[in-house]
Amino acid sequence: MKIITHSLQETEQLGKDLAKKLQPSDIVLLYGDLGAGKTSFVKGIAQGFGVRSDITSPTFTLMNMHPTKHKKITTLVHIDTYRLQHENDLIEIGVRDYLGNNHTVTLIEWAGKNRQLA
Ligand SMILES: Nc1ncnc2c1ncn2[C@@H]1O[C@H](COP(=O)(O)OP(=O)(O)OP(=O)(O)O)[C@@H](O)[C@H]1O
Ligand SMILES: [Mg+2]
Repeated sequence: MKIITHSLQETEQLGKDLAKKLQPSDIVLLYGDLGAGKTSFVKGIAQGFGVRSDITSPTFTLMNMHPTKHKKITTLVHIDTYRLQHENDLIEIGVRDYLGNNHTVTLIEWAGKNRQLA
């Protein structure tokens, strides 16, 4: 299925709509160039989950965790692999504890940059 959005608002709304369909342990891989709207889409998903913390690209931190208001999916894990040098960097910061776990949904920007993650 292909959905084209024409504004920041539409992209966020699409994220919000997707949030309703996401299940515990789901992983969403986000592909697209700089400024394509990946973080905007994540913001929409976060809104859908009632996240109150600010969503910014975790370019330098690699991974941000956001508590949600959802009953089962308690944490939204936001990963940005743009500056990732080696997959071990993610493993070292504990990604395995969160990825695909029953209480999380994981969103990965620049998923295609690291073949192990894609
Ligand atoms: N249809 C659209 N959807 C989303 N953002 C749009 C759209 N049209 C224009 N924009 C603008 O493009 C920018 C997208 O920025 P965003 O941070 O979401 O991109 P990104 O893919 O996460 O970039 P990066 O690779 O740097 O992390 C925003 O400033 C937004 O206002
Ligand atoms: Mg981004």
